[in-house]
Parts: sequence; C-alpha cells; structure tokens
Amino acid sequence: MGPSVPLDFLGDLRRTHHCGQIRACNAGSHAVLMGWVHRRRDLGGVIFIHLRDRDGVTQVVFHSEVAAEVHAKAELIRPEYVIAVEGRVALRSPETVNPNLETGEVEVVADKVWILNDSRTPPFPMEDTVDVSEDARLKYRYVDLRRPNMQRNIMLRSRISFAVREFLHSQGFLEIETPFLTASTPEGARDYLVPSRVQPGCFYALPQSPQLFKQLLMVSGFEKYFQIVRCFRDEDLRADRQPEFTQIDLEMSFPQQERIFEVIEPLISRVCAVAGHDVQPPFLRLTYAEAMRLYGVDKPDLRIPPMTEAADLFAGSGLNENGLPMVAIRIPRVGALTRRERDEMKAFGAEHGLRVFDDLKRLERDFPTALAQARERAGAAPEDLLVLASWAGDPRGHRPEETVYQACGRLRLYAAHKYAERHGLLNPRDLRFLWVVDFPMFEWDEEENRWNAAHHPFTSVHDEDLDRLTSDPARCRAKSYDLVLNGTELGSGSIRIHRRDVQDKVFTALGLSDEEARRRFGFLLEALEYGAPPHGGIALGLDRTVMLLAGENSIRDVIPFPKTARGTDLMVNAPSEVPERQLRELGIQIRRPH
Ligand code: AMO
Repeated sequence: MGPSVPLDFLGDLRRTHHCGQIRACNAGSHAVLMGWVHRRRDLGGVIFIHLRDRDGVTQVVFHSEVAAEVHAKAELIRPEYVIAVEGRVALRSPETVNPNLETGEVEVVADKVWILNDSRTPPFPMEDTVDVSEDARLKYRYVDLRRPNMQRNIMLRSRISFAVREFLHSQGFLEIETPFLTASTPEGARDYLVPSRVQPGCFYALPQSPQLFKQLLMVSGFEKYFQIVRCFRDEDLRADRQPEFTQIDLEMSFPQQERIFEVIEPLISRVCAVAGHDVQPPFLRLTYAEAMRLYGVDKPDLRIPPMTEAADLFAGSGLNENGLPMVAIRIPRVGALTRRERDEMKAFGAEHGLRVFDDLKRLERDFPTALAQARERAGAAPEDLLVLASWAGDPRGHRPEETVYQACGRLRLYAAHKYAERHGLLNPRDLRFLWVVDFPMFEWDEEENRWNAAHHPFTSVHDEDLDRLTSDPARCRAKSYDLVLNGTELGSGSIRIHRRDVQDKVFTALGLSDEEARRRFGFLLEALEYGAPPHGGIALGLDRTVMLLAGENSIRDVIPFPKTARGTDLMVNAPSEVPERQLRELGIQIRRPH
C-alpha cells in the first residue's frame, strides 16, 4: 500500500525548536519544527495545525494569500501525519491567545512544509479525556503511548530512574549486572522457565529477583551494589503486579537496618522531588505488631485513622466474650449511612468472620458509658462513621489476635474506599510513607501444613530470637522491613544471614532437608563459608513508585509495554505457539490438556 499523499525526504533539514518551547520572546525568530499533527482546522483561506512533539504543542498557520502552494499542501495533511514546517514565530493577537497551551501566545506562520509520512486514521483520539478500552490501548500501544498522559508518565519514569542512579552513585554504590538465565531464586512465586537447547530436558529459570547474586557480590567484597533490574514472576496479576517488573535493588555490607533507611529515605525524598512532591525524612516506623493492632494490615494507609481497642470498655457486656480483640473503626466525615449501606457493611464483616455493631443508637441505649469512651478514644466527631467489630467465632490461626485485626483492617479499608467520595481522605497527592519493621520470621502455610519464610529464607532472625527458631517459630521476629506508601508495599528488605550455621538452622526450621538445601542453594551455603560479611539490603518496586507518584491506579500506566491481566501481550501476540521444529530442537513435546 503506497502513501496517500506524495511524501518528502527529511534530507538534511534540522529542527530549530521543540514544539513546547516557543514563547513570546521568540517572536520574529525563524523556526523549523517537526512532529505529529495533533489537530487540524481548515477555515478555507487559513489552515491551523496543532503540531505536537514530546515537549508540547505549537500552533502553525498556513495562509493561502501568503504562500498558496504551501497552503495547498497543508490541505492534504491529516491527524497524526508526520510533518516539518519552516516559518516565523509571530505573536497572536490578544483575542486569539490560547491560555490552555503553554505556547498559546504565539504561532508559527509557515512558509514551507514537508510531509514526512502519512498515517492511517488512529484507532482512538490522542486526547487523555477520551476513554479507550484497555485492549485497544494495548494492541496499539505505540499510538497509546503518544497520548499526553502516557508521555508524561514514561518521561517521569525516565527522570526517576536517572535520579536513582545519580543518587546511588553519589553514595558510593556500584551498578553491577546479574544474570537473567539462572536457576530458581525463591521469592514465593512460580518461576518462568527457559529451555536449554544444548542440554535438552534442562531449564534455566528467569530470576524472581537478584537476591542470591547480590548476596554473593557482598561475599566478593563490593560492599555497596545496586541495579535497576527486571524481575520475572509467574503469579496472578493485579493492578500493582506484572509478570515482569523492575526493582531498584541494592545491598550493603556491614549495615544495621538504620543504615539501609539512611540511604533509602533521602533517595525517596529525591525521587519525590523529581515528581514535584515535597517529602521529608525521617519516615514513621511501626513494628509489624503495631501495624497489625492499629491498621489490621502490614501495609497501612496512614491517610485513614488507626483502629482503637474497645474490648476493655465492653468487658462483661456480652458482646465480646471470646477474649479476642474488639475494635473501633473510625472513618471521618462519612455522615450517616443508609440502612442498605449498613447491611452491606455487616455482610462484608460477616464474610470475614466479624460481628459488626453498626447500630450505635442501640449501643448508646444499652452501653452509654462504654460507647462514649469508645468515641472519645477513637477521637470520633458526630459526623464521623464509627463501627465496632469483634470476632464472631472461635479463635483461629497461630496468632489468633492477628486474625481478628486483619479482618477488622479489611473492614476499615472497605468502608474508607466505599465512602471515599464523602470524606475526601484518599487524596493521591497526600503521600504518607512509613517503615514497617520486625516482621515475623515465619508464616504458617495452611495448605502445606508447615512454616514458610515470611520474607525469604535468607533473612536474619533477631539476635534474641535465635534460640527459638525451632522451639517457637511463631514468635521469632525477622530483621526485615517494608517501605509502605498509602497502603501499597513499595519495597521490602532485610538484614541477611551471613553465617553458615544460622542458615542451616533456618532451613531446618523451614523443613528443608540438608540434601534439598544443598541441591538448591549449595553455592550460597558454600559462599557463606568463605568470609561472608554481615550484609543486608532492600528492593523497591520502580513501577509501583512511579505509579503512585504519577497518581495512577495501575502499574500498566507507567510501563511502556505491559501485559494484560491474563499475562498476554496483545501487540506482539505473546505468549504464542512455536513451530514444531523449534520444539524438537529443544527436546520438548507438548502435552495438551484434555
Ligand atoms: P519482594 O519480593 O518483596 O522482595 O519485592 C520487592 C518489591 O518489588 C515489587 N514487586 C512487584 N512489582 C510489580 N509486580 C510484581 N509482580 C512485583 N513483585 C514485587 C514490590 C516489592 O515491594 N529480594 C527481595 C528484596 C530484598 O530482600 O532485598 C525481594 O524481591 O514493590
């Protein structure tokens, strides 16, 4: 298919300005601009074109009486054509100034135009305000990425990556690459496997993170490592999860937890400044136990008030007789709920094992003093929503109180998000960072009936809990920490085990036999015997960081070429079947599910 109009060559034509740069002070200058036709208005004798490049938009005018030939050519031009224009910058008359454009005081009066390429009618308009289906956006991602919001997000991402590199280099970190074709790195997800051609039946695993390599780099004596690195995890996708995503990964030798925070807090402050937010360290610190008690979750959203205890106030009331916590949840400025809303909230609570006391009038009648004290403790104003909740059944889990707090935490988030419009609390520009520290070392796996590492199996236990590793795993605390922003886990890290004997004990506590441990992590165990220094680090999710700083709700909007929720790339059609010949070479035969 040939072009729909005669096309010109770029030749040695050079642009003099970018479209977003031109201002009133440039009036009278000669200008050569290049870009895409954003919009075109044909008023007969005059044609206006909004010419767009990555820096912005400038209006270009073609007058038939000034340059008839050029005007005639401009008549052929359609949206998304790629053109170059040469002309003079002119001030617009006051009544034609466009306050919505940064370049709105000026226009370029064209006396030459080159049509460098034509374009089919784009699958959707370039305006951000037009709602386009996700499938269309991802299938024509190269067009979607031209839209101003996506341009802003991807440019912000680039500036953030640059700021991270600049800052970490200034702090003495070395940027070191680690392999993608490797063996399994346990971070709790499934691995993506890559078959080996030269060793049929054998597979590489793509790294879930550079965890083991960065520890080995500490054994090698590099002391401060970082990498902005792609990681691969075969897990169910959500708005903040992709199968391949990017970490800002770092590791240090001889650190305490505080040394890691001393690097990350100013780094975050710098990154926020790049995105136009003023965030000052130090960040709040909460232990995991505190986060659970106050927010019912290990990634608290501090924009919503904490929960308060009410069990002592209602002791003997008959409302909460199982010795478990009773919790008051306050959401400011929600006002009265309708009957239906109250029923929905109760049903949500019940689904999570809770008995929800939403009828405050009744509580007021039956337990006036206790309710008044609960209100006071929660700091509840008359227009605030206050809900009390307790556990409906028998204690559950290895840390039963935590089970109750978790359910209450879910109810708290449910109410806050459901009535967000009424209270205006969840402003994305209100950035509340915190550290959650002292996570439990182990989590009970109901399905497998055994303990799992809560972070990963290379995390140190608190010195004073070392003796409890096998006798009381539920109460062992890890030297691990999460960086949390507005209810999202941005990053996670720990001080690692650097002694072989301790690593052995942790593997034993996890039920990993010596043989299994040696088979999977023999190289690490061995490395620990060759002078491994105390070390620790963290990895921040770059995609999540950019998402929150850009005010987006999905990491897909800050990743140039993301996968759909089903893990597919609609543009390149991946994953896809491969020719039989390729499978044969790899020694692979496909077993079709029946
Ligand atoms: P972790 O598994 O907690 O820790 O990951 C660190 C951070 O990476 C981001 N992240 C993701 N982002 C998008 N999509 C995903 N599927 C995804 N999975 C994780 C999150 C998370 O906080 N090796 C350890 C770090 C360490 O101990 O140093 C690790 O990978 O923002």
